[in-house]
Amino acid sequence: SNDPLVIFTPSGKRGRFPAGTPVLTAARQLGVDLDSVCGGRGICSKCQVTPSYGEFSKHGVTVAPDALSDWNAVEERYDQKRGLAKGRRLGCQATIQHDVVIDVPPESQVHKQVVRKRAEARDIVMNPAVRLYYVEVEEPDMHEPSGDLERLIAALENQWGIRNIEADLHILPQLQPILRKGGWRVTVALHQGMGAPRIMHLWPGFYEGTLYGLAVDLGSTTIAAHLCDLRSGEVVASSGLMNPQIRFGEDLMSRVSYSMMNPGGADEMTRAVREGMNTLFEQITTEAGIDRTLIMDSVFVMNPVMHHLFLGIDAYELGQAPFALATSNALHLRASDLDLTLHPAARTYILPCIAGHVGADAAAVTLSEAPDKSEDLVLVVDVGTNAEIQLGNKHRLLACSSPTGPAFEGAQISAGQRAAPGAIERVEIDPITKDPRFRVIGCDLWSDDPGFGAAIAATGITGICGSGIIEAIAEMRMAGIVDASGLIGSAEQVGTQRCIADGRTHSYVLWHGTEDSPRITVTNPDIRAIQMAKAALYSGARLLMDKLGVDTVDRVVLAGAFGAHISPKHAMVLGMIPDCVLDKVTSAGNAAGTGARIALLNSDTRAEIEDTVRRIEKIETAIEPRFQEHFVNASALPNSSEPFPILNS
Ligand code: FES
Repeated sequence: SNDPLVIFTPSGKRGRFPAGTPVLTAARQLGVDLDSVCGGRGICSKCQVTPSYGEFSKHGVTVAPDALSDWNAVEERYDQKRGLAKGRRLGCQATIQHDVVIDVPPESQVHKQVVRKRAEARDIVMNPAVRLYYVEVEEPDMHEPSGDLERLIAALENQWGIRNIEADLHILPQLQPILRKGGWRVTVALHQGMGAPRIMHLWPGFYEGTLYGLAVDLGSTTIAAHLCDLRSGEVVASSGLMNPQIRFGEDLMSRVSYSMMNPGGADEMTRAVREGMNTLFEQITTEAGIDRTLIMDSVFVMNPVMHHLFLGIDAYELGQAPFALATSNALHLRASDLDLTLHPAARTYILPCIAGHVGADAAAVTLSEAPDKSEDLVLVVDVGTNAEIQLGNKHRLLACSSPTGPAFEGAQISAGQRAAPGAIERVEIDPITKDPRFRVIGCDLWSDDPGFGAAIAATGITGICGSGIIEAIAEMRMAGIVDASGLIGSAEQVGTQRCIADGRTHSYVLWHGTEDSPRITVTNPDIRAIQMAKAALYSGARLLMDKLGVDTVDRVVLAGAFGAHISPKHAMVLGMIPDCVLDKVTSAGNAAGTGARIALLNSDTRAEIEDTVRRIEKIETAIEPRFQEHFVNASALPNSSEPFPILNS
């Protein structure tokens, strides 16, 4: 035909349309992702496009400069009021006149990609559960009586093609005044993707603002929240809070026993964590300068015990075999069901749990790191007091948890402490002199740099954190200070300056101490505690490898705060993880938090992860005899069954 040819970039979709067709209409017909909140009325400006001629002429087609219509009155008005960037047109107003290439910039795409920084991580495609729609509603008519809600729903159906819409009761009292105030024009926040689409909120006229969602990682020690813009996907603010349940017990098992020993204890802990949550939300919205009622959606991830205590379920059954969860399914709730004070109709999604010891946080790691989509065999390890381990690829995915205990967090270590300013976090030991150098959290210098003494005056040297103790022991092993069984050598082997007799064993002095900072040593019991923890981690990974019938893995992903700080080389020297080419060991940072953000921003991924979790093969380490065998081998440094790690990069 002689109709003008239109090519959209970056999608490459193309078609011929009669001259005079609005760009938005052409985009709709070709299935091009071009946003609109006002339905083409020239109000929202979400439909902006850039006609681009240059690239088009490369295809050998001559383009007339008037390929699109001149500005019309609506665009003119919009530009005068708000300003339209140079070269931009409103897709709903500009009409096609001649052949043209039209670029849809990322801001104008509904399903824009939020790019993640790591090459191996998947990007997030925007598809939030709550979106805004502007509609013009028919006025009531005595001759054809119908309710205002019915006419609002009809308008949404006719103008947006959305069927079976329902409204919450809280909408009804506001409906009539808002419709009249807006002159029968309203913006609707609609929740879709689970059950019937529901009207969550109404604004008179066109609502200029944006909507927000929360992605929350509820840990046993800290609660971390990201406040996200539900249109751009941007993290607007992040904030954290100590989990107030800590006063009932430092670790999970002590919280489970608190609820067993104290009638009403579980309820107390539920109240505490929900109150903490509201405090955190207050904090984060204040920081971002937004109204809390603009938060319409939320996603939570957590381990099974936190899951139960947050939902108001006694975690008693999780404290004993066979570790039955009340439910492992994903939950679609109202935030108000959990006493969360967000928008009154705000939703809450909780990811599914994988098993009794492998929670929604692990499912979030799966969502973020996508081992189920991986071509190569990937081992994903998230280390806390329990290590959650996943092994697999796109064909099969296995998961287990292994009780590492709190040693990796600095507990059970003589000079151990949490990762905080003052803690030794990096260690190197000279194999000849046996002298260490180290770095302390909160200080940019190494201990042998000039000016170190003055630089640490503010924090002091207070102890050693999990990553520090791992590096210290691995370095001691490589410097010949510690043998494969984990025993610290004699003064000759250790260096007289650094060795102190310690009952029947020796300790290695990392820091001699000063008037105001204590001496810091690594003792044989410290090494023992790390050996036990790392053996548990290694055995879990090894067990999954047995189940899959493999001897090696292609890559290892270390997830979690611990994984972000630990050095892969040292982890491998200690034999925490199976041998793997060193540059194939990467850290994923807070993968559970990222998984929560993915589920928040792209509601399609919820059904996807629910399906994946159903397919994961769950392995219970406690009943596997092979686990014990591996454990015995794995307490040696690095272990007694495999050659020394490759470390070849
Ligand atoms: Fe809203 Fe074009 S669709 S301004």
